[in-house]
Amino acid sequence: MTDAQPTLTIDGQEAPFTPGETIYQVATRLGKNIPTLCYDERLEPFGGCRLCAVEVEGVRNPVASCTAQASPGMVVHTATERVESLRRTLLEMVASENPTVQVDPLRGYASQELGLLVERYQADTGRFAGAYSGCSKPEDHNPFILRDYELCISCYRCVRVCAEREGDYAISVMNRGFQTRITTEFDGLLEDSACTFCGQCIHTCPTGALADRKALRFALKAEVG
Ligand code: FES
Repeated sequence: MTDAQPTLTIDGQEAPFTPGETIYQVATRLGKNIPTLCYDERLEPFGGCRLCAVEVEGVRNPVASCTAQASPGMVVHTATERVESLRRTLLEMVASENPTVQVDPLRGYASQELGLLVERYQADTGRFAGAYSGCSKPEDHNPFILRDYELCISCYRCVRVCAEREGDYAISVMNRGFQTRITTEFDGLLEDSACTFCGQCIHTCPTGALADRKALRFALKAEVG
């Protein structure tokens, strides 16, 4: 005899899950469209942006569904007024310090994520306008990767993909809070780091802060004939 598979309830629908799965994984399987920014299914859960927050009955504050594990009998609500309002406010905080939210899709595979979410939530991109925490690296003249950190939202997907998928550890996080920056060892150029220019960081970046210089060059050539 086998033990019955545990279940939880998501938006009124009972769903089986495998122990160890997160709420986000089960909800996505049910077709729920929970917004994310720091999530990449290939990477370890990080829980930085809180956009994936959901309400769990019996828990006072919303929980990040990409890190919270499903448990038997749990009752989850993925789209209450409270979490939708929280998501809009979080998006407005992120977008308010990004000079450009809508970027060229040729910047990278995931580069439209922030822009699409801003559209979906009709987020006011100027609501929290003020100082910018980003810092660009205009002097990094490598031919492959544009580093436009003024568009960085500190989701660390680039740092995590470089470490977890490539094992290169070429980039990391420097400073804290508003001064946080993505950097290389000794804050040098990518060419002088352990970077292999594999492009994984470009293609996981949800804002286009890292971009494919080659694609942008070709696009420009096509435009000017
Ligand atoms: S996607 Fe869950 S915290 Fe960012």
